[in-house]
Amino acid sequence: MAHVLVTGAAGFIGSHTVDRLLAAGHAVTGLDNFRTGRRANLAAALAAPRFAFHEGDVAAPGALAALVGTVRPDAVIHLAALVSVQESMTDPDLNYALNVHATHLVAEAARLHGVRRIVFASSAAVYGDTADFPLRETTEKSPISPYGAAKLASEAILLGHGAAFGLTVRCQRYFNVFGPRQDPASPYSGVISIFDRRYRSGQGVTIYGDGQQTRDFISVHDVARANLLAATAPAVASGVANICTGRATSLLEVVGVFARHYPAAPAVVHGAPRTGDILHSLGAPAHADAALGFRAEVSVETGLGELIRTG
Ligand SMILES: NC(=O)c1ccc[n+]([C@@H]2O[C@H](COP(=O)([O-])OP(=O)(O)OC[C@H]3O[C@@H](n4cnc5c(N)ncnc54)[C@H](O)[C@@H]3O)[C@@H](O)[C@H]2O)c1
Repeated sequence: MAHVLVTGAAGFIGSHTVDRLLAAGHAVTGLDNFRTGRRANLAAALAAPRFAFHEGDVAAPGALAALVGTVRPDAVIHLAALVSVQESMTDPDLNYALNVHATHLVAEAARLHGVRRIVFASSAAVYGDTADFPLRETTEKSPISPYGAAKLASEAILLGHGAAFGLTVRCQRYFNVFGPRQDPASPYSGVISIFDRRYRSGQGVTIYGDGQQTRDFISVHDVARANLLAATAPAVASGVANICTGRATSLLEVVGVFARHYPAAPAVVHGAPRTGDILHSLGAPAHADAALGFRAEVSVETGLGELIRTG
């Protein structure tokens, strides 16, 4: 049994990661300040004896180091972040504090207190708007937002600490994650959670453009399993890996699944394409398989079916 500290534990990916770690028999300490997460996401975990929760800010001076010093986890999974690309554009200072400086605090807390492994929530946003598909870990990185730049900088900060101080660091570049507990209230949330909320309330959806734009949608259950493997699998080396399926799904295909579940829903409306929207995104998944033995298992059809049934 390992003891894993999860930052951003009350969030969408964080809460599924906590549940997956507990189900695998590990002890988990969760940290979150509820900036975008919800206590309700941790309902099951809070009833588990091997889970402890701390409300706090990873970016507050000394707070994380004090917690790590008390808890002494074997691994830290660092998911807490300012998660909106749009907010990183309107408030780059806050993006720097929460997505760059906080990463440094995680690295330092781990170094000071002998944590052996750090898993970091990076993003396909590090690649920016490139047409070099599928995106491989070696593809040129050209972030086009403060958010993407911060994720790339965080990878470098953590890998540098890892190399210098003997920590194993796994940077996981998640692609488009979907599934239960994703907050649809934010206009910048994943498109699937927004579609889900609209279909659920009997409204139709608008697709900007012809709907042929594609994404590499990955189920949150697969992402949680990738986090479990990265944090606890034996003999894992430091590195960076895409956490993706390698399959491109168009928005029209996504809407097709919803339409089958909601036959009475209004027809899709097409709006003008939005400037700045990336048309395609697709990752190459082989590296995560080689490094962690991770392959995505949940198809978009199955994952959407679960989301539609359970919310
Ligand atoms: N959802 C995706 O498709 C996706 C894709 C790529 C990367 N990511 C990354 O995965 C991670 C988790 O994202 P998510 O989709 O679960 O979003 P989320 O908003 O549901 O989770 C983020 C969590 O971090 C918490 N948090 C934020 N700032 C904090 C702070 N200073 N101190 C303590 N807690 C704080 C929030 O309250 C929230 O619970 C983030 O790092 C995000 O950038 C997500």
